Amino acid sequence: MEGGKQQLTWPLMLAVGTAVIGSLQFGYNTGVINAPQNVIEKFYNETWLARYAEIIPRTTMTTLWSLSVAIFSVGGIVGSFSVGLFVNRFGRKNSMLMANALAFIAAALMGFSKIAASWEMLIIGRFVVGLYSGLTTGFVPMYVGEVAPTALRGALGTLHQLGIVIGILMAQIFGMDVIMGNDTMWPFLLGFTFIPALLQCCLLPICPESPRFLLIIRNEENKAKTVLKKLRGTTDVGADMQEMKEESRKMMREKKVTIPELFRSPLYRQPMLICIMLQLSQQLSGINAVFYYSTKIFQKAGVEQPVYATIGAGVVNTAFTVVSLFVVERAGRRSLHLLGLLGMAGSAVLMTIALALLEKVPWMSYISIVAIFGFVAFFEIGPGPIPWFIVAELFSQGPRPSAFAVAGFCNWTANFIVGMCFQYVEELCGPYVFIIFTIFLLGFFVFTFFKVPETKGRTFDEISAGFRQSASAAEKNSSEEFDRLGADSQL
Ligand code: GLC
Repeated sequence: MEGGKQQLTWPLMLAVGTAVIGSLQFGYNTGVINAPQNVIEKFYNETWLARYAEIIPRTTMTTLWSLSVAIFSVGGIVGSFSVGLFVNRFGRKNSMLMANALAFIAAALMGFSKIAASWEMLIIGRFVVGLYSGLTTGFVPMYVGEVAPTALRGALGTLHQLGIVIGILMAQIFGMDVIMGNDTMWPFLLGFTFIPALLQCCLLPICPESPRFLLIIRNEENKAKTVLKKLRGTTDVGADMQEMKEESRKMMREKKVTIPELFRSPLYRQPMLICIMLQLSQQLSGINAVFYYSTKIFQKAGVEQPVYATIGAGVVNTAFTVVSLFVVERAGRRSLHLLGLLGMAGSAVLMTIALALLEKVPWMSYISIVAIFGFVAFFEIGPGPIPWFIVAELFSQGPRPSAFAVAGFCNWTANFIVGMCFQYVEELCGPYVFIIFTIFLLGFFVFTFFKVPETKGRTFDEISAGFRQSASAAEKNSSEEFDRLGADSQL
C-alpha cells in the first residue's frame, strides 16, 4: 500500500476542516429542535392565541411540530438533489461558498420569527436550512473524498460525520434551558447558524479547489499539480497525477452520466443499488427518531432528567465517531457496517424490552438509557459515517455527481419519513415501535453481507474496475442464459 508517504499536511487539514463546518451546520440543525420542543411549542401556542383567540388544538400542535421538525428534511431532499447543478459548473469550493447564502437567510428567518410573531417564518427557515444541509451532504463528502489521499480517504471521510455529531452535541448543550433553550433565548439558539456560516465564508477563500475537479473537469493540469503539491506537502505528486489522469481518461470514454443512465447501465446498477441501500440503512435504522425526539422518548421511559440523557446520547455519539475514525482504515468499511447494524438491532430489542417492562420494573428506565446509548454507539461505528463517503468511492468522475444526487435524495427522503411519522407510529405501537427498526436493521445486515464489497485501501479506479468486471460477468452470464433459453426453445 502507498500509505507511507500519504500524510496529513496543514493545507489538507485546513481544506477538510473548513469543509466540515458545513457538516457541523447540518448536525446542529438536526439536533437543535429536540431539547426546546416545549418552549417553542409554547411560542406557537401564544401566537395562535393572539391571532385566533383560541388555544391551539392538540392535533394541530402535533402536526405543526412534526412539520417544523421534518420540513428540514424536505429542504434536504431538494438540496441534495440539486448538488449536480453546482459542483461541475462552479467548482466544489465555490459551491460550498455560495450555499452559505442559504444559511444566512435561514438564520435570519428563524432568529426573527419570535419578534415577528410568526411560526411560519420558523418553518420556512427550517426548510431553507434544510436546503443548505442537503447541498452540504453532497458537497462536503465529494470535496473531502477528492482532496484526500487514498490511504486517508476513510478517516477523512469520517470527519464529515464527526462534524455532524459535534453539531448535534453543540445543539443539545446550547438547548439546555440554562443556556439558550428558554423563552427568551431560543431565537438565538436557532439563529446561531449564522456564526459557522460566517466562519466558513472567511476560511473557504484560502482553501484549495479540488485537484480532481481542476484536472478532470476543467482540464487545468498545472493548477491541479500545484494544488496537489500543497495538499500532499511534497513535489513528488507523480503517482497521484497519474491516478487522476487515468480517471480522467476513463471519464472521456464514459462521458457525463445522467441520473436515468445510472439505473439503465449494467455498469452502474450494482454500485447504485449498494449506495441506495446503504443510505437507507443509515436512516431507516431509526437514528433520527433518537436525535429528533430523544427527550420525549426518555420522558416516556421514565427517565427523570431527559435532557441530560439526550446530551449523554450526544456525547456517546461523538465518542464513537472518533472510535470509527481510528478503526475505519484498519477494520474496513464492510465489517464495521455489519457490526454496527447488528449492534443497533440488539440495542433496539433491548429498548423494546425496557419499554415493555417499564410499568412492572421501574429500573427499566436505566436500561432504556443503556439501550439508546448502545444504539447510538453502534450507529457511529459504521452506519453513520460509511454511507456518506462510500458514494465517492464507488463511482468515478462521470457518474459521481449524479450518484451523489440519488444517494442524497434517498437518504433525505428516508430521513423525512422517520421525522414526520415517528410520533404518529409511536402513538400507535407504544413500546413496540423499535421493533420496526429492528426488522429494517436485520434486512440491511443481510444485504450488506451478500452485496457490499470492501473498498478500503483501493483507489477509485480499482474499485470501479471491480464493478466493471462483475457487470461484464453478469452480462456474460445473462447472455449465456439467453442463448441457453434460445437453444432450449428450439428443441
Ligand atoms: C448521520 C445522518 C444524520 C444523523 C446523524 C446522527 O449523519 O445522516 O441524519 O442525524 O448521522 O449522528
